[in-house]
Amino acid sequence: MTLAHDYEEHGEPRLDAGSQQSATLLPRISIQAFCETRDVMEALEEARADRRASRTQMSVQMGGVAAAIDLYRESPTPDIVVLESMAGGQRLLDDLERLADVCDAETQVIIIGHANDVMLYRQLLARGVSEYLVAPVGPVDAIAAMCRLYAQEGEQHTGRSIAVIGAKGGVGASTVAHNFGWAMSQDMLKNVAIADLDLPFGTAGLDFNQDPSQGIADAIFAGDRLDESLIDKLLWKCTDRLSLFAAPATLDRDYDLEFEAVEPVIDLVRSLVPHIILDMPHQWNAWMRQTLMAADDIIIVAAPDLGNLRNAKNLVDLLTTHRRNDRQPFLVLNQVGVPKRPEIAPREFADALNLELAAEIAFEPQLFGTAANNGQMISEAQTSAKAAEAFRDLARAIAGQSEAPRGANTLIAQLMSRLKMMKDKK
Ligand SMILES: Nc1ncnc2c1ncn2[C@@H]1O[C@H](COP(=O)(O)OP(=O)(O)O)[C@@H](O)[C@H]1O
Ligand SMILES: [Mg+2]
Repeated sequence: MTLAHDYEEHGEPRLDAGSQQSATLLPRISIQAFCETRDVMEALEEARADRRASRTQMSVQMGGVAAAIDLYRESPTPDIVVLESMAGGQRLLDDLERLADVCDAETQVIIIGHANDVMLYRQLLARGVSEYLVAPVGPVDAIAAMCRLYAQEGEQHTGRSIAVIGAKGGVGASTVAHNFGWAMSQDMLKNVAIADLDLPFGTAGLDFNQDPSQGIADAIFAGDRLDESLIDKLLWKCTDRLSLFAAPATLDRDYDLEFEAVEPVIDLVRSLVPHIILDMPHQWNAWMRQTLMAADDIIIVAAPDLGNLRNAKNLVDLLTTHRRNDRQPFLVLNQVGVPKRPEIAPREFADALNLELAAEIAFEPQLFGTAANNGQMISEAQTSAKAAEAFRDLARAIAGQSEAPRGANTLIAQLMSRLKMMKDKK
């Protein structure tokens, strides 16, 4: 923490900085939080347990600024210190001054205060505080604030991962992953990478009519050679905005994957491409579970029968238990309306899972079969097809709206919305 009494040195508060950056995976940093109220302590405990903080070393304790000062007299300061303070005004400023004496210059300080006071906020910024949040603060707000510190420092942006998994094999999970990825890149102009994690049998190459000589297996098994430039070389440019990480789809070796081998590959792709779609095989083992748990968003694809419903229910239960601060998985019902097949009505299926129905796609063997055989996407085979529209809607629903709250209670966010209101009035 640096003391900078001269406000000019810091310039105007960066009004644009607050609300832009969302909560993504935090880097390997150390964080220590000192709270004064139970509510803030509980929220920060929850942030600590959140998947986005899984790489950090984070501790949360009571005692506020005083406890922090006591500790840092003896021990080194972490990358981020989070301090809750009930005191406002001069007392808080005095406390911070004492903290600055014992705090490393590189340590970033986030204050959680109880006063919504712009003057105080400015004075805090001038004293080198990185961020001021107004209580109540949710776990994701706290993580988002920490993410912003790193984004502001020009750290690499982390792309979002979206895992697509079928409730059963053959329900069209890969078809949905590819078509939805295509829609995101073609219609929403997003940069997208599709990673085919079904190493022995994946069809991403076939579906896009591409035959890359190398792909995801070369990255997963690269060992020490794995780095950004290797990933860049291996990612196959399907179009300007869509890259493909195709599966080898050969059986000349076994593919016993470890999460420790898959995770760094996904991470590197995320550092290069803003959206990565993980086409998951229908299996259940350690790397699958961990990969799924670590994804930013999850799409469950199911066909409307009882087996699918049971499996989808188990998935949803597991996900909601372990991902309490994430939005719900997106449910896609596919292959709806197979002639003569008794089916569960899509709405009932969704209700049974307590989920919104993100998309419903009819069983159309002629259209899907032709597209698959020609190595085309549905919208290429027939732009006006209802299924093509459904994939576009899904892309909009997932990429168009942000995930959890984006630090809506930071002062900067509030200032921004006030500025916007004033502008709108003019
Ligand atoms: N809505 C649909 N109507 C007809 N056939 C479909 C539909 N969706 C997918 N298919 C076909 O179902 C088969 C299995 O699809 P795939 O995406 O490989 O499933 P999964 O990845 O879940 O195993 C493919 O032949 C695909 O073309
Ligand atoms: Mg598949």
